[in-house]
Amino acid sequence: MHELTLTTHDKVGIYRQITPQIAALLADETDPIANLANTVAVLKEAFNWLWVGFYRVDGNELVLSAFQGPLACTRIAHGRGVCGQAWAQNQTLVIADVLVHPDHIACSSRSRSEIVVPLHAPGGKVCAVLDVDAETTGSFDNDDAQGLEKIAALVANRCFS
Ligand code: SME
Repeated sequence: MHELTLTTHDKVGIYRQITPQIAALLADETDPIANLANTVAVLKEAFNWLWVGFYRVDGNELVLSAFQGPLACTRIAHGRGVCGQAWAQNQTLVIADVLVHPDHIACSSRSRSEIVVPLHAPGGKVCAVLDVDAETTGSFDNDDAQGLEKIAALVANRCFS
């Protein structure tokens, strides 16, 4: 596949269409950086969010990995910010308004809402997080959580196993 194919504007429909395309992309390549990079490219093209990218677990910090969007913080401590909390709590976090979240790390002043999804290595430990930022409040809901969790599982299986 060299081009993303989308025939719907419906969010759930978009997840339904891009997920098998991401799976096919990952199946064709073993290099984790190439796969992480193309996954964020597909998500950015499909949804046009402000920022989408991965942070990898590196000791007791997250370190910035493949992303698209404005430049971002390179390291986030375990339990800090939305990303570090999603890692520490081992669960997807949906933040409707980042300005009222007590420990949001503002990499871009344009970010208004955020979702962070953990990725799991074989055995279940968190090995990375998928972070998405949008410019409007309340951009993410359970459909995004479910859609991105499926994609995160595909990526974890291919890039962190
Ligand atoms: N807002 C995140 C930091 C990463 S940037 O959004 C790319 C957080 O609070 O962890």
